[in-house]
Amino acid sequence: MTCDPVRLGVAGLGRGFMLTLPSILADKHVRLVAAAAPRAESREAFVAEFGGRAYATIEELAADPDVEAVYIATPHQMHREHAEILAAGGKHLLVEKPLAISLDDATAIVDAAARAGVRLVTGPSHSFDQPVLAARRLIDEGRFGRVRMIHALNYTDFLCRPRRPEELSTELGGGVVFSQAVHQVDVVRVLMGGEALTVSAMTGAWDPARPTEGAYAALIRFDGGRFANLVYSGYAHFDSDTWQDDIGELGAVKDPAKYGAARRALATVSSPEEEAALKSGRTFGAVDVPPAAPHAEHFGPVIVSCDRADLRLTAKGIEVWGDTERSFIAAPADPSPRAEVLKGLYDAVRGNNPPIQSGGWGRASLELCHAILESATTGGPVQLQHQS
Ligand SMILES: NC(=O)c1ccc[n+]([C@@H]2O[C@H](COP(=O)([O-])OP(=O)(O)OC[C@H]3O[C@@H](n4cnc5c(N)ncnc54)[C@H](O)[C@@H]3O)[C@@H](O)[C@H]2O)c1
Repeated sequence: MTCDPVRLGVAGLGRGFMLTLPSILADKHVRLVAAAAPRAESREAFVAEFGGRAYATIEELAADPDVEAVYIATPHQMHREHAEILAAGGKHLLVEKPLAISLDDATAIVDAAARAGVRLVTGPSHSFDQPVLAARRLIDEGRFGRVRMIHALNYTDFLCRPRRPEELSTELGGGVVFSQAVHQVDVVRVLMGGEALTVSAMTGAWDPARPTEGAYAALIRFDGGRFANLVYSGYAHFDSDTWQDDIGELGAVKDPAKYGAARRALATVSSPEEEAALKSGRTFGAVDVPPAAPHAEHFGPVIVSCDRADLRLTAKGIEVWGDTERSFIAAPADPSPRAEVLKGLYDAVRGNNPPIQSGGWGRASLELCHAILESATTGGPVQLQHQS
């Protein structure tokens, strides 16, 4: 079947864009035609590399009649303003996770898209990863019975990578809960397939020099007495990719010689400005676009306990630990690491079968993140209101 690619604009040519770029370039569902970026060198690099148009403002991108949809990859706190401007310009939206920082802003984004009659997808997130979607299909086949419990954990160097100052302040949307729990929550919601009811959680902020959450543990109660346990540490010590065949989050095999690289790089900076500059040194126009990775992306080990089997997700597929036999089901090879997100945007824009990761979905995942923070503060379970 012929595919009429969505003419895609991008808002924000930073790290998030860099990670999605190899997929955008490899995927037949989208064609990159324009960008908005405040830095002249990013705009020049964009036009030199892809042609098209690069604007200094979101308003100009919103006014470009050739752009059908925009991937919003600007910092969390800008998502609402940028989504409102772009939706008013008639652009369909793919908004990076988390959809926003506050639930009010998330609601405003959902409302802006509805008012303008444009489609809204929240992503990329790891709920679009091939092994997650393959596990969901297996669960839907019904062979293993109902999902009863999910255990998801991830130990990374997230908090020790170079950051902008606001990424180290929880009030401004920083820390691992807004940026990382949202992935785990998305994965668990796709696999569980039901409604989350309450959250009980604790968080850890253990580094006074980076005074935001670097770790959490959360117990989510779902309908029917089912539950999920999420554990995360971003303090750059244990690396749980060692339990994922040494394949990193983005699908590339890790080089053991690079152990400790995030902390070593951080030790070279002596001010927030230097740290922010180190971060922008890893973005578009400053370094080469990474090649597409050989394996699927993943977000750490996940074990799904069903009535008649435990399913362990890896970057290569799904280990099935059944009643009397073990087997392995390979996840389909991705044509590009984030193909499912871009296909989801295409399906949403062209009107066929949009993905479940809508605006309302993104708001529900954000509510779970807030519930983790609230429960950690109050010490009690938090009832969820925006899940259906
Ligand atoms: N899904 C993922 O794997 C993933 C990974 C990294 C980041 N992200 C998300 O991407 C978003 C951006 O984070 P980041 O780490 O890329 O930050 P970043 O600082 O690397 O990039 C943000 C970019 O936005 C640009 N920008 C700022 N104001 C702008 C404006 N008014 N118009 C256009 N561009 C503007 C900046 O110049 C910068 O290039 C966040 O919401 C983050 O959660 C997602």
